[in-house]
Amino acid sequence: MILPAVALLAATALAEDYRPLFHFHPEQNWMNEPNGLIKIGSTWHLFYQHNPTANVWGNLNWGHATSSDLLHWTHQPLAITAENGIQAFTGTAYYDSENISGLGSPDSPPYLAYYTGYFPSNGTQDQRLAYSVDAGDTWTKFPGNPIISAAQEAPHDETGGLETRDPKVFFHEPSGKWIMILAHGGQDKLSFWSSTDALKWAWVSDLTSEDVSGLPSGITGWEVPDIFQLPIEGTGETTWVLIVTPAQGSPAGGNGVFALTGSFDGTSFQADPVDTSTLWLDHGRDFDGVLSWENVEASDGRRILAGIANSYGGHPPTNTWKGMLTFPRTLELHQIDSKRYFVQQPVTELSTVSSSLATIQNQTITPGETLLSSVRGTALDIQLSFSVTTDAVLSLAVRKAGTQQTVIRYNGSNKTLAVDRTATGNTEYDAAAGGVHSAPLVPDASGVVQIRVLVDTCSVEVFGGKGEVVISDLIFPDEASDGVALEVTGGSAMLRSVQVKEVSL
Ligand code: FRU
Repeated sequence: MILPAVALLAATALAEDYRPLFHFHPEQNWMNEPNGLIKIGSTWHLFYQHNPTANVWGNLNWGHATSSDLLHWTHQPLAITAENGIQAFTGTAYYDSENISGLGSPDSPPYLAYYTGYFPSNGTQDQRLAYSVDAGDTWTKFPGNPIISAAQEAPHDETGGLETRDPKVFFHEPSGKWIMILAHGGQDKLSFWSSTDALKWAWVSDLTSEDVSGLPSGITGWEVPDIFQLPIEGTGETTWVLIVTPAQGSPAGGNGVFALTGSFDGTSFQADPVDTSTLWLDHGRDFDGVLSWENVEASDGRRILAGIANSYGGHPPTNTWKGMLTFPRTLELHQIDSKRYFVQQPVTELSTVSSSLATIQNQTITPGETLLSSVRGTALDIQLSFSVTTDAVLSLAVRKAGTQQTVIRYNGSNKTLAVDRTATGNTEYDAAAGGVHSAPLVPDASGVVQIRVLVDTCSVEVFGGKGEVVISDLIFPDEASDGVALEVTGGSAMLRSVQVKEVSL
């Protein structure tokens, strides 16, 4: 049978189903945020909230995938399964290198994965442990589960243990203790617990929104905590960083990710006063549930973050899968004068699978000109370095055809970086799917603005400056919208360097 052209197009679009090229996403069905990120030997392990039986949230297991380069992922069997009416909610993994838990042996210390047990029958959430003695390939549920029961949580939780979840666990060298941080769902609060054997836990402190001086109101529903130490580039010092995904109150509305600096003494976290201009790790709609890889070897030393790109529940128009991992990005803390900035960049592994499509050097662009119009692609890494006159707006359109386009814009008068999804394609699937997300971005000391844009089929991730401003958003353009255009309005721009690379795995 010869299919009419329209049916052929529809069949292709359905087959592709907006699947990204270099972003991890499930083979089939639903994922939400990453879990248990850990590097073991030369293998990056990714676990994630996964419903293997339907394309909606529910029936949560820890899905599992592995990679040697954070680019090519191999799907693995489920790591921690929903069983006996208990689902496996979010948590983290850590290497018990001294076999303190006794779950491995001195010769083969175990990897520990802490997760929340969720009982859909009555809403209870308790804390559980699974361990691996084969370098993360398979995971065994600890027979003494739960390690923290709902009854033990109850005195420390407004809901009596119904909203206590997402254990972040690590070994705190100075106090010689294991620390667990739990989120209290609808409450604006984390609780800290400690343990000497990684198995039996005692509550030690709470951190609530009232303890964080300068935190704006309305940042509510704290979930998915992460904590680690980071060097402060430019000072020779190190500080603690605490990351939280609140359900409400982010710059783009809905959930987002904020990061605090502070001190941690093994008992409580003292947050530094908040600078609201550096609080949010992303100004787009689609970066939350963020965790970082543990156990990265010191010779690498990077703190690498990944989250889930989907803040629209089951609404995105993908039929065979739902939810995509954000592209792994490094997190650094830089101090310039007395101001500290978080700086994020895509991991450098990306350059190993990118090849040049177009470059521009030292060229002025004026209104009416369109550059890069011969470039086509749906998986791109675009780097721009330019200066603009104060009356100019420089626009980079991607995923463009006809009137359809996603526009990354820099405005020289109000010094703002923006991602405009108003004409991006399908925005009908959710009330929050269109619109413009923006954030202030000042040029560097020599007046130069840098912007890096990762485009991958159904997403843009935009890094401004050194990476102090990031905007990540999902987009759902027509498959044929693969054009690019660089234009300026109002004034002119001096393009010092533009590089467009195609990513191919
Ligand atoms: C965050 C979250 C976590 C929970 C998980 C369940 O999106 O609500 O707090 O553990 O999703 O899938």
